[in-house]
Amino acid sequence: MPAKSMDEIVSLCKRRGFVFQGSEVYGGLKGTYDFGPLGVELKKNIRQAWWRAMVYERDDIEGLECAHISHPLVWKYSGHEAGFFDLLQDCKKCKARLRSDHLVDGKCPNCGSTDLTEPRPFMLMMKTNIGPVDDGSSFAYLRPETAQGTYLNFKNVVDATARKLPFGICQHGKSFRNEITPRNFLFRQREFEQAEMQYFVQPGTDEDWWKKWREIRTAWWVEQGIPAEKLRFHPHDKLAHYAKMAGDIEYEFPWGFDEVEGIHDRQDFDLGSHTKNQDKYPIQAKVLKNTDSTVEMSYTDVMDGNKKFIPFVVETAMGLDRAFIALMMQAYTEETLPNGETRLVLKLKKHLAPVKVAVIPLKRNNEQIVTLAHQIKEDLLKTGIGRVMLEDSGNIGKAYRRHDEIGTPICITVDFESIEQSPATVTLRNRDTMAQERVAVADLPKYLKEFFL
Ligand code: GAP
Repeated sequence: MPAKSMDEIVSLCKRRGFVFQGSEVYGGLKGTYDFGPLGVELKKNIRQAWWRAMVYERDDIEGLECAHISHPLVWKYSGHEAGFFDLLQDCKKCKARLRSDHLVDGKCPNCGSTDLTEPRPFMLMMKTNIGPVDDGSSFAYLRPETAQGTYLNFKNVVDATARKLPFGICQHGKSFRNEITPRNFLFRQREFEQAEMQYFVQPGTDEDWWKKWREIRTAWWVEQGIPAEKLRFHPHDKLAHYAKMAGDIEYEFPWGFDEVEGIHDRQDFDLGSHTKNQDKYPIQAKVLKNTDSTVEMSYTDVMDGNKKFIPFVVETAMGLDRAFIALMMQAYTEETLPNGETRLVLKLKKHLAPVKVAVIPLKRNNEQIVTLAHQIKEDLLKTGIGRVMLEDSGNIGKAYRRHDEIGTPICITVDFESIEQSPATVTLRNRDTMAQERVAVADLPKYLKEFFL
């Protein structure tokens, strides 16, 4: 059964070293988090599962990595400078700062008061100073989405790869938003990671691609371990400034269905906005008149008499941190054992598990046992199955409990039989079934490669 509350996940994350509050030593910085030893592994595995499905397993998508800080003109012509605002109101009674769209029937959700200030716009982009003098004249924005860097490099990628439409560009990395009300742990932060893909298509085929990508991305979530009935697609009532059609893949969190990934039909809004000589193209979306760009973001169709046009874009935009908590929540399982005890086990899919195998020497002061355990770890690392960890805390019960809680699919115990018998064997314990079997040490690499890869 998945976690019943975010508190259960926050507690597990802190206890076992997945996630810590950012700047904790100084009282914490709201809306920022640090990923601990297991958190970085889990996040890396989710990122890799996404990259593998989007880039390696397809033949129509390239990768890209852009700078986090970017020229102010990028965000002028993207429409963010004029349109990326939330409406902010203060509750005069309890002094809470609120997003207007988070009010409950016009009332403060904290104290129920209707005595609120008038709504005023609040810019979500963060600025940083560039250069040695901080007089406000030379600034850059920290990107609020990865997508714009991808649009700016559209021509570079086409020129370098000779890609033909339709094709996509994937990018993951940090984005920054000055959220008024960061909340729900990793769900709404001020610094977070996105995994976004921009798919460039012939105008007129965008609606079909939007539907296709909605299906492809929903199937990906199911493959990562989220049951289909815990997902739904929710079309946007209010469209972002760039979107013609948009909706969210939502996961059923303990507080209800909420967004984990957006699927947007951005048409020619972004390439059109950033293009030089806009007048040459029949741009569909309403874009700002661009007098600064140095590049025409167009595509030449050699199959259609070298016709030049601005492609349309369908975007898939996932929050990696939201994937992290959704997958942890879904995997969080409390089981009652036959002896009446409860066990907490993180039933992550094995490709996502932060540690794949724990090798546990039964006696940490027995040199032969410890040496064999080290040897097994070395041999398994060479198989490429992922992180293999030597767990020599000295208490087998505690070791199993810890590895159940962090989701390690296999524990290997090296005991007296392992060093006394020939050929040497060890005990393999399966996280989900708790079944134990003895396997010859020589067979471990093959056995575990089949299990994991
Ligand atoms: N490029 C389009 C774009 O950025 P978005 O719906 O604003 O669209 C995409 O963001 C995804 O990024 C969201 O579905 C969500 O998973 C994640 N995200 C957005 N704001 C976030 C925040 N403050 N904290 C954590 N994740 C966030």
